[in-house]
Amino acid sequence: MTFAVPAHTVMERCDILARYSEESGRLTRRFASQAMRQAMEVVAEWMRAAGMSVQYDAIGNLIGRYEGQSATAKTLLLGSHLDTVRDAGRYDGMLGVMVALACVERLHTRDKRLPFAIEVLAFADEEGLRYHSAYIGSSAITGTFDPAILQLVDADGITMAEAIRSYSGNPDLQMLQTARWQREDLLGYCEVHIEQGPVLEARNLPLGVVSAISGQDRIALRFTGEAGHAGTVPMSLRRDALCATAEFVLAAETLAHSQPGLVATIGQLNVQPGASNVIPGQATLSLDVRHQDDTVREQACDHLYDQARQISAQRNVALDWQLVQEHRTVPCTPHLVRLFEQTIEEAGYPVLALPSGAGHDAVVLSTLTDITMLFVRCRGGVSHHPAESVTEEDVMVAITILERFLERVIHP
Ligand code: CO
Repeated sequence: MTFAVPAHTVMERCDILARYSEESGRLTRRFASQAMRQAMEVVAEWMRAAGMSVQYDAIGNLIGRYEGQSATAKTLLLGSHLDTVRDAGRYDGMLGVMVALACVERLHTRDKRLPFAIEVLAFADEEGLRYHSAYIGSSAITGTFDPAILQLVDADGITMAEAIRSYSGNPDLQMLQTARWQREDLLGYCEVHIEQGPVLEARNLPLGVVSAISGQDRIALRFTGEAGHAGTVPMSLRRDALCATAEFVLAAETLAHSQPGLVATIGQLNVQPGASNVIPGQATLSLDVRHQDDTVREQACDHLYDQARQISAQRNVALDWQLVQEHRTVPCTPHLVRLFEQTIEEAGYPVLALPSGAGHDAVVLSTLTDITMLFVRCRGGVSHHPAESVTEEDVMVAITILERFLERVIHP
């Protein structure tokens, strides 16, 4: 048997795509940029060579279609995103598109048609770097596009509507808010992605099956005390907003340690007035809480709110607590998860199901169809960084497992 499209082709292609950047010397590829257009044209060529018909949708997603045995067959969706963060690695997003493409190419080489069609989706935006609004690509494809974001402007003052037009897309709302398929025409969506965490590496596993994409709360907090002279106000009379914050930060850490799978992060902190000889009068901070079980996450947030109130009462500082964003956990579809688990087991690898702490296009696709995700081990769990790294061996395992998974997907 010929070994068409081995893993090193996927690795090479990720290297090639990394050249299409808006910045020299590092990889930055935003939505509707020239670099994105060039990268997509390259991928479109590979898709055509793999026997796929190729088109762009209104927002600029690239879609490659490989027909099934009959024209009326249902469609299985594969894919990921081609946009990046600033100074990115070359696998977050791109690997998922390249592994999907490799599997189709291997079918094409054997002249094999499955009982269903496959569409490989290369999303034009997932990271949200240009417009600070994530999932632009997948929301347009599922018909859940938020019309308000068309008016957002990027750092150069270009609205999203203008960007779409100059990318030869079409910012017509009717098109952006119409799903490309009906639910009953789809078998599901499957995304291969680097893990972006250290779990698989720690367990010495090439890949894992995602059980759920964890829910998330983002909260903005402010402790307001009283600023004063660092030399003259005695300790007993102080209302130090930063000391209250410090206590809260450690309380969040302690709580997260006490519950398996719970993560809590304070990633932003602003101290006012911010002078070395002035007692902090106000501290503004962010809180990010995630867990795959919504009840655990909600209880954790309630608990932290109580603690913040206690701290503010004890220290006589005011507390302001605003819920900025709440996303519920999106479970991956059990029958597809099981199918992946069986495929991995039969291939002789230990099976590990793990939640995703990061968001993915699959979250948006879940509004339209069943979803499943496969994580590939990445070195040190590093992502959103040029040091992002996967091995060719692990990529080969991912191709093999996805290929066998495709053969197991039963056309209902
Ligand atoms: Co990604």
